[in-house]
Amino acid sequence: MAYIGTTHGKIILMGEHSVVYGYPCLALPFFETKVIAETSTITKGQTLYCDFYKGDIQHLPTSMQGLKAVITESLKRLHKENAPLNITITSSIPIERGMGSSAAVAGAVVRSIYHYFDAKLDHNTLLSLIAISETLTHQKPSGIDALTTTSDKALYFIKDKKAQWIHVNLDAELLIVDTGILGKTKEAVHDVASNYHKASIQNALKTLGALTYEAKQAIEERSVETLGRLMTEAHHALQHLGVSSKELDHLVTIAQQYGALGSKLTGGGRGGCMIVLCRPNQKQSLIEALRPHANHIWSILSLIHI
Ligand code: PMV
Repeated sequence: MAYIGTTHGKIILMGEHSVVYGYPCLALPFFETKVIAETSTITKGQTLYCDFYKGDIQHLPTSMQGLKAVITESLKRLHKENAPLNITITSSIPIERGMGSSAAVAGAVVRSIYHYFDAKLDHNTLLSLIAISETLTHQKPSGIDALTTTSDKALYFIKDKKAQWIHVNLDAELLIVDTGILGKTKEAVHDVASNYHKASIQNALKTLGALTYEAKQAIEERSVETLGRLMTEAHHALQHLGVSSKELDHLVTIAQQYGALGSKLTGGGRGGCMIVLCRPNQKQSLIEALRPHANHIWSILSLIHI
């Protein structure tokens, strides 16, 4: 019998990078992309099957050391270090696109292992286990990926504080546009940290924090024009931080030329995805304009009642 654990992708609406420095972040669960992990019994050994690896968990490649550490720690906490088992991971979250793939995979695996051993798993334990992998992936994770990929609601998050669930009910749609280029979260987070001593970087982070706070108010007031304007301003601040790319900038320019309410990169940047806020009746023309320059476009059909 297989014991399943699931999680989903996430989209940062506002506040990536600045969230690492204690400013707020607005993030949405992205249910269109999912991870399913299944733990099952085998006669001996501990194995893992996914698109990138098939074999002994002890021999996972360097790029998957975060996941290995999460599995090892989960089994240790359950006193099942040597239990024979196989974990199979199926994911529709593209990797390194700013959608929280690594946190979602770790979360689904932990849920599946705990399910397999019929052990209770509270949300804080789950988040602390995912943090093991996220810290290995990039040293200063804010925790936003772990929280959003394991939660069903939109959230307003400040690092090390209790997250606040927010009710999103907007007459607008969100397009998620994949450049097809791998994002570079680790490198981007590292570069922002190395340049933190510069006043221009601190100002850009502060601006992102203020824009995110205003965006929360715009959501509460259901003002989609204001939210869109703040998103585009955030993209410019992210450019100042040095975490955009020419492909992301190009997509933002096209979205604005075709009348989007707002657009910006999402996630770690330097590749990965950008998002476009638009009126429902603008969606089709925006998709047509962006499609030739994108690898894939998802749409969150509506931002009503998230
Ligand atoms: O690229 P992603 O999906 O891992 O998003 C990273 C978000 C950052 O703010 C850049 C980093 C963090 O830990 O919050």
